[in-house]
Amino acid sequence: MAIIVACSPTQTPKIPAQKSQKVVLGHYLFFEKKLSVNGTKSCAACHDPILAFSDGYRRSVGVFGDTHPRNSPALMNAVYHKTFNLANPDVRSLQQQHRLPLYNTSPIEMGVEGNEAQILAKIAADTLYQRYFAKAFRAEKDRFSWQHIIEAIAAYTSTLVSMNSPYDKYLAGDESALSSSAQNGRALFFSPRLRCGKCHNGVMLSTNSRFALDSNIMTNYANIGIYADGENSSADKGLMNITKNPKDEGEFVIPSLRNVFITAPYMHDGSMATLPEVLKHYSTGGKKHANLDVRMSAFPLSKEDEKDILNFLESLTDTSYLKNPHFINPF
Ligand code: HEC
Ligand code: HEC
Repeated sequence: MAIIVACSPTQTPKIPAQKSQKVVLGHYLFFEKKLSVNGTKSCAACHDPILAFSDGYRRSVGVFGDTHPRNSPALMNAVYHKTFNLANPDVRSLQQQHRLPLYNTSPIEMGVEGNEAQILAKIAADTLYQRYFAKAFRAEKDRFSWQHIIEAIAAYTSTLVSMNSPYDKYLAGDESALSSSAQNGRALFFSPRLRCGKCHNGVMLSTNSRFALDSNIMTNYANIGIYADGENSSADKGLMNITKNPKDEGEFVIPSLRNVFITAPYMHDGSMATLPEVLKHYSTGGKKHANLDVRMSAFPLSKEDEKDILNFLESLTDTSYLKNPHFINPF
C-alpha cells in the first residue's frame, strides 16, 4: 500500500556556535540558583537537560511552591520556534520570553520582581561572575544589569540545538536508522487518515517552527478538544487569554515532537501521562468543543498502528548532546 508522505521536511537548521563569551556566561546563569529570590531555583530547575530541558512534572512549581498553570516545555531546539510559550503569539524572541519566568508574579516563578537590586548584588559579588561578565561585556560601563543577564541567557538558550536522532539519520539518507515499524509509523503519521502532519510538520514536526511549511503564525495554534465545552470551568483558555477572542478559547501552540519520548507528561497542562493516552485521544477525534480544529478527525487505530507510531515518535529522541559539557550543569 503506497502512503503519500506529505509535509516532509525540506530545510534543516545549522548547529549554532557554542563558543562566544556571552554564551559561556549564559551557560552559568541558566544553571544559577542565585537568580531566584530565595536561591532555590535556576532556569534548569524547570528545564533539566536530561529531559531535553523540560521538567517531568505535570505542571511546574515556582520558588514559593506556587503551581504554574502549565507544563514545562522542552527547550532543546526551541530556538527555531516562531513564537515562544504555549499560547502567546506576541512572544517572538528568547530575550522577550526569558523576562517572563524571572519577573512573573502570578504565579511567582523565580521572584525577581521587586528584588532586582538584591539579586544583582549577589551576582556582582561572585568572583566567577566578575570574571565572566568582564569577558562578555568588556566594553560596557554597567556590566552587571538585568539586560545583560537576559542577553547572556538567551545567547546560551539559542545554542540548545541537537539533531542527532535516528530520524535525522534517516532523513540524511540512512534508511537503516529507522526500523520498518518506525518507517510505517512515519507513513501513518503523515497519512490522510491520521493527519498528524497537518499540524506537526517540517523538520521540527511543528507548524510553530521557522522550518515549517506554513508561515502563517495563527495556524500555529489549535484546539484539539482536550476539554469539551463547559467540561472544565477552570481550564486554561490558552490563546484567548491573550487575544480575548472566544474563538481562540482552548487553542494552544502546536508543539514540536522532537524528544517527545522523554518529555512526559503531555499537553499544556500535563493532563495526559503517556503517549498511548495521547494516541487514544487523537483516535477518538477529540472532545466536542465549538473551537475544535478542522484538522482533527477520528480514525481507527489498531494495536499494530499504535506500536508503529510509538516507534516513529521514539525515533525523534536524541540524547547524544548529554555527552557534551555544553549542555549540562557547569557547576
Ligand atoms: C517554575 C518553573 C520554570 C522556571 C524557573 C523557568 N521556566 Fe521556562 N517555562 C516554564 C513553563 C511552565 C513554560 C510555559 C510557559 C507558558 O506557556 O506560559 C516555560 C516556557 C519557557 C520557554 C518557551 C519554550 C517554548 O517552547 O516556546 C523558554 C525559552 C523558557 N521557558 C526558558 C526559561 C529560562 C531561560 C528560564 C530562566 C530564566 C526559565 N525558563 C525558567 C517553566 C519554568
Ligand atoms: C489540529 C492540529 C493537530 C493535529 C491534527 C495533531 N496534533 Fe498533536 N498537538 C497539537 C496541539 C495544539 C498540541 C498541544 C495541545 C496542548 O498543549 O494542549 C499537540 C500535542 C501533541 C503531543 C504532546 C506533545 C507535548 O509535548 O505535550 C503529541 C505527542 C502529539 N500532539 C502527537 C500527535 C499525533 C501522533 C497526531 C496524529 C494522530 C497529532 N498529534 C495530530 C495539534 C495537533
